[in-house]
Amino acid sequence: MANAKRTSARSVRKKAAGHQLWGGRFATGPDPALVAINRSIDVDFRLWPHDIQLSKAWAAGLVGAGVLSRREAGTMRRGLDRVARRLGKGVKPLRSDEDIHTLIDRLLHEEVGQVASRLHTGRSRNDQVATASRLYVMQAMRDVDVAARALQRVCLTRARKLTGALMPAYTHLQRAQPVSVAHWLLAHFWAVQRDRERLATAAHRAGVMPLGSGAIAGSAFRINRPRLARELGFHSISQNSIDAVGDRDFMADALFALTGLALHTSRLAEDLILFGSSEFGFVRFGDAFSTGSSMMPQKRNPDALELARASPARVLGDLVSLVATIKGTPSGYNKDFQEDKRPLFDAVNLTLQLLPAVTGTVRTLTFNVAKMRSAISSAMMATDLADYLVRQRVTFREAHGAVGGLVREAEIAGVELDALPESSFLAAHPLFQRSARRELGADASLRNREVPGGTGPKAVAAQIVMAEAALAR
Ligand code: ARG
Repeated sequence: MANAKRTSARSVRKKAAGHQLWGGRFATGPDPALVAINRSIDVDFRLWPHDIQLSKAWAAGLVGAGVLSRREAGTMRRGLDRVARRLGKGVKPLRSDEDIHTLIDRLLHEEVGQVASRLHTGRSRNDQVATASRLYVMQAMRDVDVAARALQRVCLTRARKLTGALMPAYTHLQRAQPVSVAHWLLAHFWAVQRDRERLATAAHRAGVMPLGSGAIAGSAFRINRPRLARELGFHSISQNSIDAVGDRDFMADALFALTGLALHTSRLAEDLILFGSSEFGFVRFGDAFSTGSSMMPQKRNPDALELARASPARVLGDLVSLVATIKGTPSGYNKDFQEDKRPLFDAVNLTLQLLPAVTGTVRTLTFNVAKMRSAISSAMMATDLADYLVRQRVTFREAHGAVGGLVREAEIAGVELDALPESSFLAAHPLFQRSARRELGADASLRNREVPGGTGPKAVAAQIVMAEAALAR
């Protein structure tokens, strides 16, 4: 780094750029147009806790490498703590602060003077930004996991009380078969469970430390990288410095995990938006999670859910933006990668804002279980009726045909399936006894579905035990 003499020589030449980590080889400072496009501090400012953390660890590493004395490192670490306090209070960056790494370097100079110029020994912003971004992703995946788990918790809590409530399950959005309301709620629980597994995987993939890679070829100082990694909470170190500074896969993994979570949240949201419409009337949104219309006083709008429905557009857009940024870049670090953080932060921010609102919506809505139950018609038990024949050794194809005829007859007569006379049943199939009609009850239909993973009451009770176990992990 620049020593005092060079710094003053530079100010004599009146370079306009202020505190910089580079520039000695240029006769003039950068053009304002370049400064404007090159500046990333508005986006990467939030990396400061991670940059401080890794810089403190780096100072300790430089002692081991014989670059810094223990005293110097101590001064630096205490100085970095003071810088962190200032950043936490919201220091305003100067126009000349190019990025968060430069800002921290400038503030450290303010705090400890010239010894600060020794910190940037054997490291580059290339391995620095890769390391800080990975620390950020590790933290962000944990934060999102907490929020996703809270959504699961509320689904499970509500499901526990609704094991006896029945509703239609839909395929093609057509009434298909009766299920317990708990079973429907838990369907969303398990989707989020997969998202949480992906979040954990993304955090694990981010947990490989690039620090010590320098700009591209590896640090020229004997840094104990495994020790540095342990200190920073990484599980391992990168094995190739070229790959380490040019790798943004961990961000793509994180964005893919967030995309999955957004997809699942959007599907839960769409179920609830439909169920909350007057046409369904299955749920009513709580006041705290409803918005009104500026024109129509009667409106009760589920805005959070609609924003959840829209969220995959933004998060997937962020993923596409990142992947397109990586595409075709030559190996090693490229300034293109400065554009990686905007989509990453956007997706994390949105997710962390959205999930509590969706969770709150689910927590505060009321279920109209009578309305849900009344949406079940006996035709939805047509499969159960066919299964009744199958239990008497009729092939399913023949049974399907017989019940299909009954459904058509009921439709033409404009009555429910269970309102057809005995004679119709016998005409449809001679093996239809009086007991067949019992198959047309929704509760009987559920009791038939005790296969693990099915909607039978015992199967759902077992499912709830599994869900509790998943939450406890
Ligand atoms: N702000 C830069 C980024 O986000 C930091 C790395 C700059 N490295 C460099 N060689 N100019 O990517």
